[in-house]
Amino acid sequence: MKGIILAGGHGTRLYPITLGVSKQMLPVYDKPMIYYPLSVLMLAGITEIQIIAAPQDVPGFQRLLGDGSRLGLRLSYAEQDKPRGIADAFLVGAEHIGDDAVALVLGDNLFHGPGFGEILRSSARDIDGCVLFGYPVGDPERYGVGEVDAVGRLLRLAEKPAAPRSNLAVTGLYFYDNDVVGIARGLRPSERGELEITDVNRTYLERGKAEFVQLGRGFVWLDTGTHDALTEAGQYVQILSRRQGVRIGCIEEIAWRMGYIDADTCHRLGLALSHSPYGRYLLEITTAEEKGE
Ligand code: DAU
Repeated sequence: MKGIILAGGHGTRLYPITLGVSKQMLPVYDKPMIYYPLSVLMLAGITEIQIIAAPQDVPGFQRLLGDGSRLGLRLSYAEQDKPRGIADAFLVGAEHIGDDAVALVLGDNLFHGPGFGEILRSSARDIDGCVLFGYPVGDPERYGVGEVDAVGRLLRLAEKPAAPRSNLAVTGLYFYDNDVVGIARGLRPSERGELEITDVNRTYLERGKAEFVQLGRGFVWLDTGTHDALTEAGQYVQILSRRQGVRIGCIEEIAWRMGYIDADTCHRLGLALSHSPYGRYLLEITTAEEKGE
C-alpha cells in the first residue's frame, strides 16, 4: 500500500503566520506538524509515501525529510500548483499510486490513542473499497459528517452540513483500494470549485464499499487549522511529554519500533539532534534498549 500526505493549501485561517511558511511546517510543540501525519502512515506499515505540497513549499519539505532513507522510507514529492481539492491528491499522485491501494492523510491532522497502530494495520489489510474514520465532535458542521445506523453501519455522508444528522466527523485519514484513482478522475468540481473527498467517499458508499471505523473514547483527533486549535494541539503534546514522558509523532522512534531502521541508526539520528530534548529522548530510549531496561 502506498501513502500520500496532502500538505498544500494556503493556510489562510492562520494568516499572517502562513504568509511566509507552509502550515504543515509549523511547530506542534517540539516538532513540525507534518511529523504527526507521517507517523500515522508509518504506524500503518506504509513506507512508500508521497508528500504533495504547493510548489514553493516542496523544497522545504525536501530539506526536512529528504528521500526518507535515514528512516527506512521511500519519500517522494509532488507539486499541487493550487488547492484544487483534497481528491486532487489522487490525480497528482496517480503515478505514485500505480496499481496499489493508498492511504491518504491530511498534513494538518493529529491522531493519538491506545492501540491506534493495530487499528491502522488491520484497516490497511486487504482493502476492498474504502475505510473512513469517524470521531465524535461538538461542532460537526465544520467537517465531513457520517450518519450511521444502530450497529454503526454508514448510511449517509455530508460535507459541512448546516444541520448535521450526527456528531461523527469524518477525519482526515482515508484508506482506499486502487479504484480511487478512476473515481477521482470522474469527479466534477463542487460549487466551491474543488474535487471533494466526500464525493469520492459517497461513490464508495453507493457501491456498498465504505467501512466506517469509529475512534472512540480515550482517543484524540485534533486539527490544527486555527490559531486556537494549533496552540491547543501543542499544549496537548506538551502535557503528554512532560507529565508522562510519552512522545507522539517521533518519526525516528517509530521507524525503529516498526523495524524500518535498527537501534544503532536511531541512536545516531538522536546524536545529530542531541542539542534538543527531542534528540536526547532518542538517545535515552535507544540507550535503555541496549541496557535491556
Ligand atoms: O480535517 C478533516 C476534514 O478535512 C474532513 O472532515 C472534511 O470532510 C474535509 O473536507 C476536510 O475539511 P477541511 O475544511 O479541513 O478542508 P480544507 O480545505 O481546510 O483542507 C484540509 C487540508 O488539506 C488543509 O491543511 C490544506 C490541505 N489541502 C486542501 C485542499 C482543498 C491541500 O493540500 N490541497 C487542497 O487542494
